[in-house]
Amino acid sequence: MALSRRRDPTKLVAPGPSCELVMDRENAEAARGNVPSTPTVVSVCITCKAADGSAVIGPDMFESVKAAIGPSDHVQVRPVQCLSVCKRPATVAVTSADGYTFLFGDLQTESGTAALVSFVKSYQSSNYGLVPWRERADVLRKGMVARVPPMRWSPHDGSAPK
Ligand code: FES
Repeated sequence: MALSRRRDPTKLVAPGPSCELVMDRENAEAARGNVPSTPTVVSVCITCKAADGSAVIGPDMFESVKAAIGPSDHVQVRPVQCLSVCKRPATVAVTSADGYTFLFGDLQTESGTAALVSFVKSYQSSNYGLVPWRERADVLRKGMVARVPPMRWSPHDGSAPK
């Protein structure tokens, strides 16, 4: 019978500096592997009307977000007609091909734009795009309508990634 040269997994190796370095590197590599791919897509509803119906406010929000993000290979700001959250204008969604999808409402042009710029930066460095609560501006916390996990994150217990 051939003897296995594999390490016995039941034998623990005392942690030391080199072990911690390896673990840090593995954690960093794992974290990088789970960040969403680009582009991050920011979908701004251009048909949203003010709550009193007096004006269409979506185009202003779209132009503001587009100008604030600027030209980018990593972020696409696109106009969309209705995100089905018409009672909470203005509305914006943030998503990517393999990251979380967030849907926000009740956004004002100026404060909403600043909050979204910051959110997109956090999104691109977060595990599966799940921006930590502490990194979300107050207007996005209050305006949260939905968050939907990406297809690649579907644990049996439905928990969010850590
Ligand atoms: S018109 Fe903007 S969500 Fe429906």
